[in-house]
Amino acid sequence: MEHPVTVENLTVAYHQKPVLREVEFSVPKGKLIGIVGPNGAGKSTLIKSILGLIPRASGEVQIFGKPYKQERRRIGYVPQRESVDWDFPTSALDVVLMGRYGHIGWFRRPSSKDKALAMSALEKVGMADYADRQISQLSGGQQQRVFLARALAQDAEIYFMDEPFVGVDAATEKAIIALLTELKHQGKTVLVVHHDLQTVTEYFDWVLLLNIRLIEFGPTEEVFTAENLQKTYGGRLSLLQESGNLSAFKA
Ligand SMILES: Nc1ncnc2c1ncn2[C@@H]1O[C@H](COP(=O)(O)OP(=O)(O)OP(=O)(O)O)[C@@H](O)[C@H]1O
Ligand SMILES: [Mg+2]
Repeated sequence: MEHPVTVENLTVAYHQKPVLREVEFSVPKGKLIGIVGPNGAGKSTLIKSILGLIPRASGEVQIFGKPYKQERRRIGYVPQRESVDWDFPTSALDVVLMGRYGHIGWFRRPSSKDKALAMSALEKVGMADYADRQISQLSGGQQQRVFLARALAQDAEIYFMDEPFVGVDAATEKAIIALLTELKHQGKTVLVVHHDLQTVTEYFDWVLLLNIRLIEFGPTEEVFTAENLQKTYGGRLSLLQESGNLSAFKA
């Protein structure tokens, strides 16, 4: 079987300093996968380097066995919220329509079918009433939902989502995870950067533990152990334990 994403010997450095070292893994198809690790572990960097948004010092990335450039239409990306320019003057509907450009082509106008697909994606995330609103005039959680709608409209096969739950309320988080589970059931592969260790076992089939190096990658029940979390978070884990953040998982 062809793997949706294969990463070999990936090293990425900013100003000569490696922030990802020799990372290797192969993502199975049709799974909901959590990417977990402390701040600065390289989670966003991992996604950006897979998508070719930042250069790699070394390593190979393949999407369905081919270079990313050939396969990029098969990938949807929801960036980490703070990395987006929310003052850019554009409506929620236009943001979602951008998800269709892989299908439309940059020089053609969106068809009524594209618009209908974009509207139905906005409906799925409960944002249809805000279609004409400027994105700068939406709340943080609403902006996040518009970005999710954009990814849905794109109709990709692999989704990368960088902290999609930041700034959304509990009900919206559950709604988003239900959507992602639906995508999974359609055979899509979804990778999600996630910080809340309490919900990892509930949400994800597989987990990728990262701290500059890949600590472990595999089925959640095998990989999400106290020992592996200690390796991933080091001394910081005791802080998490004190705050009760780990009560949900078994040692
Ligand atoms: N543009 C940049 N220039 C220089 N260093 C950077 C740049 N972007 C990220 N870094 C550094 O690379 C490392 C990894 O950053 P990255 O954003 O990938 O971490 P992360 O795991 O996504 O963290 P967080 O949980 O805070 O989002 C950090 O040490 C960060 O300071
Ligand atoms: Mg990040």
